[in-house]
Amino acid sequence: MLRRLHPEQPESFAFTPANQAWAEAQMKKYPEGRQASAVIPLLWRAQEQEGWVTKPAIEAIAEMLGLAYIRVLEVASFYFMFQLQPVGSVANIQVCGTTSCMICGAEDLIAVCREKIAPNPHELSADGKLSWEEVECLGACANAPMAQIGKDYYEDLTAESFAGIIDTLAKGEVPRPGSYNGRFASEPKGGLTSLTEFTGEAENASVARALEWGDTIKRITGDETPVQGGKAKRPKAPKDDAPKAKSPAPDPEEKIARPPSSGDAARPEGLEGPRDGKADDLKKISGVGPKLESVLHSMGYFHFDQIAAWTEAEIAWVDENLEGFKGRVTRDKWVEQANELAAGKSEV
Ligand code: FES
Repeated sequence: MLRRLHPEQPESFAFTPANQAWAEAQMKKYPEGRQASAVIPLLWRAQEQEGWVTKPAIEAIAEMLGLAYIRVLEVASFYFMFQLQPVGSVANIQVCGTTSCMICGAEDLIAVCREKIAPNPHELSADGKLSWEEVECLGACANAPMAQIGKDYYEDLTAESFAGIIDTLAKGEVPRPGSYNGRFASEPKGGLTSLTEFTGEAENASVARALEWGDTIKRITGDETPVQGGKAKRPKAPKDDAPKAKSPAPDPEEKIARPPSSGDAARPEGLEGPRDGKADDLKKISGVGPKLESVLHSMGYFHFDQIAAWTEAEIAWVDENLEGFKGRVTRDKWVEQANELAAGKSEV
């Protein structure tokens, strides 16, 4: 498929101030003179902000990276993930048309797109809210047929359920991502035949996180705080806790466990060292390996009873500050596990 810049282009492009700061931080990740390596993240953020990659955005990014304009255009026009034409103001729907999805009904989904959105891919709906395209395998073949909408996957679709999803989007609501035939994840359609103890959660982790964050089709300005029901769920770290850009080459451990600061009101209290010089074996907490254990030690946590005592706000703080392991405390239920281990259970 020929990928060309759209004939109609906006006058200009500028990152929002927060996205600009984010983009500059990405560029600092690479050695001096290698800033061109940031081209894909910057193009992607431009698309997250605007919905598509415009010519002024390509030019602005080329300028930022000190590259010839053609070098950035080459990248943007090579990768299909970059939209070179305007997309629906609400969402661009990507229907997988590869083998598994095709034999399970992708063509029916595409027919729904043609009928409800526009006759051709990359065409806007009459109200400009939606657009669609067929894409290659999105790696969710076990839940075919499926479509990606914004950041999330909609799986095990039928023409009827997919039409309902499109109607919901057109009404300005965000349909629930995940499976639409009642499956939790990609277990057999008839239900679990093994590992049957892993039940009880209402949604799998991807769906739960999508619902919690509510950012499925949100354009990114860089100031996002994931929300649920209008309430901030994961408060941003206070400003004085932000990593200092000028610090010399950080220790790899420090990258993960950010040092405490006076702004860390919700930081659970840590110890200088293990009591009586003997730490508990934190690796007994399922999900904590040697790396995470040493991170926890560096933060002052050595004992099960310390973790067992964390409050909700403290859990949120630790979840947020475990760079590279964010969200593990909640995901793996550390506090419940630590409670049992602190109570003398040898394993959880
Ligand atoms: S074939 Fe559709 S997700 Fe793989």
